Amino acid sequence: MVFHETYMKTAIELAKKGEGYVSPNPLVGAVIVKDDIIIGSGYHTKYGGLHAEREALKNCRTSPKGASMYVTLEPCSHYGKQPPCALAIIESGIDTVYIGSSDPNPEVNGKGIQVLRDANIKVVTGLLKEECDSLNTFFFHYIATNRPYVTLKFAMTIDGKIASHSGKSQWITGESARAQVHRDRKRYQAIMVGVGTVFQDNPVLNCRTKENPVSPIRIICDTKLRTPMNSKIVQTSKEIPTYLATCCTDKSKHSPYEMYGCSILVTKQQNGHIDLNDLMQQLGKIGIDSLFVEGGGTLNWSLLQENLVNHIQCYIGNKVLGGQSAKTAILGTGFDTPNDSPAFKLSNIMCFDEDILLEYDIIT
Ligand SMILES: NC(=O)c1ccc[n+]([C@@H]2O[C@H](COP(=O)([O-])OP(=O)(O)OC[C@H]3O[C@@H](n4cnc5c(N)ncnc54)[C@H](OP(=O)(O)O)[C@@H]3O)[C@@H](O)[C@H]2O)c1
Repeated sequence: MVFHETYMKTAIELAKKGEGYVSPNPLVGAVIVKDDIIIGSGYHTKYGGLHAEREALKNCRTSPKGASMYVTLEPCSHYGKQPPCALAIIESGIDTVYIGSSDPNPEVNGKGIQVLRDANIKVVTGLLKEECDSLNTFFFHYIATNRPYVTLKFAMTIDGKIASHSGKSQWITGESARAQVHRDRKRYQAIMVGVGTVFQDNPVLNCRTKENPVSPIRIICDTKLRTPMNSKIVQTSKEIPTYLATCCTDKSKHSPYEMYGCSILVTKQQNGHIDLNDLMQQLGKIGIDSLFVEGGGTLNWSLLQENLVNHIQCYIGNKVLGGQSAKTAILGTGFDTPNDSPAFKLSNIMCFDEDILLEYDIIT
């Protein structure tokens, strides 16, 4: 009896080990099986490194001739940073390939499957497709739009406040919810906030997970370049790549930040702030496929208004703050009626001690 799904699940778990290291490439895992024994396995470990199929072939303990490969994403058929995986599979003598997701990258898009079939390799597609597809939500969005996938994340109290009337927000949720935020940061290529959050909270926005912490790139939306030079963000920008997105074109104002290690991204202006559409285009061009927005309600509103949000993570902590002037998660002018709100689909609910995480996908 052959456990096709079990082998693909193993490949999926392997693929996840690449989280935080491969962007803007996809997460991919592969397992090679002969006589019902896994003889080799591998995953895409880092951007520019060997693809999962070649890793699995390299790790084979015995000859893969006549074996089956289980791979979460269609093997590539073009020369990129690595030679085509379909070629390596053909040369290895593997006779069956089970594939989870097809690769929408125009350079692959069915060609990988065709190349294998032309070489008389049996190809079975769509094995655990949904699970394999969900590995690469960011990659699929990025390939289709050339812009990052955007998640808004905020923590609010039972009465819907993200900060007190005096601006204090640390901490609305407990330790285990905050540990989840750090695990999530690792999955995204960049974290973004507005300069208002830097003024009020002076955050570091790094990734403090126990397992192999990799901090995402940090992006601060700062129209007039007001980020304090002594902020933790600026002071740690030699250790963690940091972009200040601004409309300020005065080079003499850029250079002190640059000396600390920040990079400056000049964008067009819209409604007196940086133009977020222009910013998304520029971020896409520099290879940023995913953004975790942890800003305040001002930036959150602008992103929603511009239809730039794909997903929302709303934490509800077991506290109340009250106060008419205490901020909520979405500020700006607001929508006129509930019908004007974007449509959301509830995609996940989790509990962390007394706190709740609600996740929503925006329906386009
Ligand atoms: N509980 C939570 O999850 C959480 C998370 C983050 C923050 N907070 C709290 O939220 C408060 C800060 O709120 P905030 O609304 O001031 O923070 P914010 O949204 O992070 O920053 C707002 C600032 O970003 C700048 N910005 C640049 N381009 C923008 C654009 N296109 N659209 C909108 N803003 C743009 C604006 O200043 P310029 O135009 O001058 O650059 C604006 O004033 C603090 O009290 C903080 O503690 C809570």
